[in-house]
Amino acid sequence: MTKHTSHEIDIVKSDTTKIDAVDFDNLTFGRTFTDHMFICDFENGEWQTPRIMPYQPMTMDPSARVFHYGQAVFEGMKAYKDDDGKVWLFRPIDNFNRINKSAARLAMPEFPEDYFMKGLTTLLQMDSAWVKPGKGNSLYIRPFIIATDPAISASPSNNYRFMIICAPAKAYYTGKIRVLIAEEYSRSANGGVGFAKAAGNYAAQFYPTSLAQEKGFQQVIWTDADTHERLEEAGTMNVFFRINDTLITAPLSDRILDGVTRRSIIQLAEDNGIEVQVRPITVTEIKEASKNGSLKEIFGAGTAVVISPISAFEHAEELFELPNIENSYADTLKDKMLSIQHNMAEDKHGWRYMV
Ligand SMILES: Cc1ncc(COP(=O)(O)O)c(C=O)c1O
Repeated sequence: MTKHTSHEIDIVKSDTTKIDAVDFDNLTFGRTFTDHMFICDFENGEWQTPRIMPYQPMTMDPSARVFHYGQAVFEGMKAYKDDDGKVWLFRPIDNFNRINKSAARLAMPEFPEDYFMKGLTTLLQMDSAWVKPGKGNSLYIRPFIIATDPAISASPSNNYRFMIICAPAKAYYTGKIRVLIAEEYSRSANGGVGFAKAAGNYAAQFYPTSLAQEKGFQQVIWTDADTHERLEEAGTMNVFFRINDTLITAPLSDRILDGVTRRSIIQLAEDNGIEVQVRPITVTEIKEASKNGSLKEIFGAGTAVVISPISAFEHAEELFELPNIENSYADTLKDKMLSIQHNMAEDKHGWRYMV
């Protein structure tokens, strides 16, 4: 290993690469990681010198608070390579802002913007061979912050670790999914942490999602905890409904994650003359719309797959099938997003960020 110090980041470069052993055509998402990782510790009330080092396991005291109280937040973002070999990020400042919003809600210190952007871009430059060109291919980027204090007392930690790890992801077509509308379980509540990308939100979803899967549905559409009437998110995605030619999605609240894809889809739809309504939408409304034929599409929106079309939903043991339509908003908007992300279309909102 060769050690040298850049003016801002201590870098230990791996002497070897694992890339030759990776079959990029048969990647299981989130199992293969690039050669390096970014790491920065919060000690004595401040973020220490950031480091990039070979990807490796780390040791931690068993009493570290993250293991006991779930003080952990994360992000999910992607890098894309265009046909000229240039690497791009998509709206990275939005992810930066969101991790700090999540951190603040979990009583964790905010991470500095210059460390975040410099760490991210340096890491991607070092591991750029892992970003494969081609529409849909990407490098999934996982920044996260965990509480590291070795002390099992239920109070905020004094020490934290911020890290970024990266996993190559291939273009994949997931097909349409069937979803179950939540009638009992909730992923978030008023005054809770639903708007934060807090690790515990995901742990809490696993059990209700596994019950839905046993019934033959891939995901749960989460409803508000009070009435289970308002449709709020689909699995780990924001959710959109097309009634006639209008696209509808729930307004943000402390129960809903402020998705970068959601925000971009709303803008792209408006750019393309599609009427968008950001307003509460209820189970009753979509059941009626499905019965009278005006419910044309439902799709989830998130970084992982951009748009995930939904073919059917169940509520109160009643199954509703969605029509198969040509030139769906889901297909059109997904293609427009991918074209911008891969530097194949004009980026009139300045969303792309060159690494
Ligand atoms: C609960 C939840 N909702 C929505 C999203 C979509 O957010 P984004 O578009 O920023 O990936 C995610 C994924 O990050 C999520 O975990």
